[in-house]
Amino acid sequence: MATRGAVSSLLLLFITIVCKGLSSPLQGKEAWNYVEVRDGAHMFWWLYYADSQSAGYQDLPLVMWLQGGPGGSGTGFGNFEEIGPLNRDLKPRKTHWVQAASVLFVDNPVGTGFSYTDRPDVYATDVATVASDMLVLLKHFFTERAEFQSIPFHIFSESYGGKMAAAISLELTKAIAQGTVKCNFAGVALGDSWISPLDSVMTWGPYLYTTSLLDDNGLVGVNAAAEAVMHAIHQEQFQKATELWSVTESVVEQNTNGVNFYNILTQEEDEKVLSSAGENYIALQTRRHIGRLHGQSLSELMNGPIRKKLGIIPQNVTWGGQAEEVFSYMAGDFMKPVVDIVDQLLTAGVNVTVYNGQLDLIVDTMGQERWVKRLKWEGLPGFNKLIWTPLYDPSSPGITGAFYKMYKNFAFYWILKAGHMIPSDQGPMALQMMKMITQQV
Ligand SMILES: *[C@@H]1O[C@H](CO)[C@@H](O)[C@H](O)[C@H]1NC(C)=O
Ligand SMILES: *[C@@H]1O[C@H](CO)[C@@H](O)[C@H](O)[C@H]1NC(C)=O
Repeated sequence: MATRGAVSSLLLLFITIVCKGLSSPLQGKEAWNYVEVRDGAHMFWWLYYADSQSAGYQDLPLVMWLQGGPGGSGTGFGNFEEIGPLNRDLKPRKTHWVQAASVLFVDNPVGTGFSYTDRPDVYATDVATVASDMLVLLKHFFTERAEFQSIPFHIFSESYGGKMAAAISLELTKAIAQGTVKCNFAGVALGDSWISPLDSVMTWGPYLYTTSLLDDNGLVGVNAAAEAVMHAIHQEQFQKATELWSVTESVVEQNTNGVNFYNILTQEEDEKVLSSAGENYIALQTRRHIGRLHGQSLSELMNGPIRKKLGIIPQNVTWGGQAEEVFSYMAGDFMKPVVDIVDQLLTAGVNVTVYNGQLDLIVDTMGQERWVKRLKWEGLPGFNKLIWTPLYDPSSPGITGAFYKMYKNFAFYWILKAGHMIPSDQGPMALQMMKMITQQV
């Protein structure tokens, strides 16, 4: 009897843990909601209060995470594949960010993740609308959660999320100055960010050539395709530039036997997305870039147990269901640079960090260096004169995990052995970097 009793209480314990794992990751507090940011445009956010053994959430920063695409979901991909407390199998993630910050995921632009639009005419078509929508959300958020008004607020981003983060940061800075949003904005971190699309595309050839992924003929082909993108951008034909960007990717794929744009050292047969003749380029780019953020098991998780747990997702809204439209409506804006916005942020005194993965191709580090060197910011000569500092990988003592430089309000982190999704590839280093940027170490 005693044994049976022990077994059944073990079973009970097990069930409790499993159910708890679903209903409340760790012990931390969570909240989520929708904000109607424009008529018919519903934006979803999900907040994890910081859950640390050494400090209360009041003493830790608030980090907002913005995913790329546009159309990639922070509440899904960022949360369960990168920095959230649980991974896609709902197992605890050792290097999750909630141990050092409250983390706010927002599915933006509208139509992304669990966000949705009632009508096609309310999709965002430019980054200015993306920013003004987010300002509405943040105004609601900091009013509803007034406890966060004085907590240092950092925006972290990845890929296209960085372009949005730059624009949002500038609008937020203005709104705070005007008193329309109450928050303690502490800075923006741009991870593998689509700040200057042309600089990324123009460096694909040289980067792949020096890493033995192109031969001489391939280099000529990729450079020629990239130059066509350049001409379109110089003529301000941005929709055409997006189309030619897609063509350039196909040229890269043909000449590299399908290199992984997100990490040049990992190629998986089932991840290869090769173009097929006559395919519409939006459909191709959705498969290439948005599809990657909506893998089958993540979709099943989000549209199954997670939507059940959240309880507020309208019945006819599918996580990821409008992602292709989000990308498609933004296609005319996609290739426009926002380097001038970064300059304005720096001049306004906002703390700006750029961090980039060594093995990323889609937004390679060479391309980031090119636009950084063109900044008009008065601190640039001082930044350029600095010698970088090595950082050790917290999980491998004595092994270099990154380099960084910081001058006045600008910092750059070169993250080694990471591709586009830095927290997925180098979790301990990414967590350490987040702590440095938020001034915890
Ligand atoms: C869901 O249904 C409502 C009511 O019929 C409709 O107004 C809305 O457009 C639908 N939303 C989506 C995302 O299909
Ligand atoms: C910007 O970064 C510097 C250096 O880390 C820090 O001293 C300063 O407080 C930061 N500014 C804000 C507004 O957080």
